[in-house]
Amino acid sequence: MQRIEILNGPNLNLLGKRQPEIYGRETLDDVARACAAMGEALGFETVLRQSNREYELIDWIHDARATAAGIVINPAAFTHTSVALLDALNTYEGPVIEVHISNIHKRESFRHHSYVSLRADGVIAGCGVQGYELAVRRVAGLLAAG
Ligand code: DQA
Repeated sequence: MQRIEILNGPNLNLLGKRQPEIYGRETLDDVARACAAMGEALGFETVLRQSNREYELIDWIHDARATAAGIVINPAAFTHTSVALLDALNTYEGPVIEVHISNIHKRESFRHHSYVSLRADGVIAGCGVQGYELAVRRVAGLLAAG
């Protein structure tokens, strides 16, 4: 079965507890379960990981080159700062969908720019945690389209 890697950046380990008025009350475990169900329905295995360390996310993207058919990534604050994550994603050949739980364009101006969007094949923002499931569907759709 083909794998979709779902990568999450800093502070998302606290999803459900952190600023619930912005990010909601569902946890990253809830997201992992919802994505696994969506992936299974579409014939994919999903693996969800989270790190507060930029280098670890970079290493996971490098690993995904050999192990994953597609990547869903919520880079969190690294979205707005990390040329290194952009460079790592530029080494990856499969579809990449960027997810933000909140609508970053409705928030502070420093959140309006994303380095990762320069590589992403699509961006989902402001759909809450449901955005992850939508992203899994989109990766599957892009892979089916070849
Ligand atoms: C976020 C938006 C980012 O600006 C923020 O730093 C996050 C989460 C989101 O999912 O809405 O940590 O990526």
